[in-house]
Amino acid sequence: MDLAPSFDLLIPGEINPDLILTGNVEPEFGQVEKLVQSAALTVGSSSVITACGAARLGLRVAFIGKCGDDVFGRFMLAEMQKRGVNVENVIIVPGGQTGLTLVLNRGNDRAMLTHLGLISALSAEDIPDALLRQTRHLHIASYFLQESLQPGLPRLLARARALGLTTSLDTNYDPTEQWRGFDALLPHVNILLPNEAEAKSLSRADTFQEAAQRLSSQVETLAVKLGAEGAWGSHNGQQVRVASLPVRVVDTVGAGDSFNAGFLYASLSGWGLEKSLRVASICGALSTRQPGGIAGQPSPADLSAYL
Ligand SMILES: Nc1ncnc2c1ncn2[C@@H]1O[C@H](COP(=O)(O)OP(=O)(O)O)[C@@H](O)[C@H]1O
Ligand SMILES: [Mg+2]
Repeated sequence: MDLAPSFDLLIPGEINPDLILTGNVEPEFGQVEKLVQSAALTVGSSSVITACGAARLGLRVAFIGKCGDDVFGRFMLAEMQKRGVNVENVIIVPGGQTGLTLVLNRGNDRAMLTHLGLISALSAEDIPDALLRQTRHLHIASYFLQESLQPGLPRLLARARALGLTTSLDTNYDPTEQWRGFDALLPHVNILLPNEAEAKSLSRADTFQEAAQRLSSQVETLAVKLGAEGAWGSHNGQQVRVASLPVRVVDTVGAGDSFNAGFLYASLSGWGLEKSLRVASICGALSTRQPGGIAGQPSPADLSAYL
């Protein structure tokens, strides 16, 4: 029997495209039609953007999630495959609808409308031990959007760790702002990847210092995204701060997810905290130079030019 894992990274996650309309307009009811400057259907979903970023860096990535046999689902599967993400385990739900986010872009601001569809339909029981056994590391993104995954997630993470995988979590924002369920996940997480606001909300702290102290005492590795300010991290008592690259920002869609991809790539390569944060920060910054989440994601060669 071959015991070497086939995948470096498994991401059970949401699948949806973003339809991005850009223009200096405000939508208006009463059947008012307005024209925009551009329209693009792009790869959305934090989980998929992270998967594509990691595959671009050379990790062997498997994705599991649910989508419909519809235009949006087929678009997402094709885009993932183009980038080398393994989609054999994606569950296509007959008659189901793939989720969609409509993004209205105006200057530096955005308005978003999301139809969840199958975004929230994956459950922990959909992820078999056989797949976990083929994998080195399990990453969870968009915890708060994945409602069916939530109840079984502590058990899934525990199962993964018992099978020898390491784990990471980026909860992303909680649209309900309740931040519930997180405490039960933490004991099973090796790497926690929040942004600054999420770090405070998750730990119910008033200041970043307090949040960093609380979270780093509960998790082996903490990497906090600080937007244009770069990142801060801790690992077994060691603390590191890194600056970001100066970049001309086109949009910040997927910056945090591309950061995560970089951090996981570096950690799984056995690099230490400081180099992992630098790699992650470069991946985040480069992703802001192109529209959407994945167009600016670097290859190892792109990365080494900045390291
Ligand atoms: N305006 C920016 N200039 C330079 N780097 C940025 C900028 N915005 C984001 N980044 C990089 O991308 C990373 C993740 O972005 P951030 O906005 O903090 O995450 P999230 O999208 O999760 O809120 C940052 O840590 C930073 O390295
Ligand atoms: Mg984020």
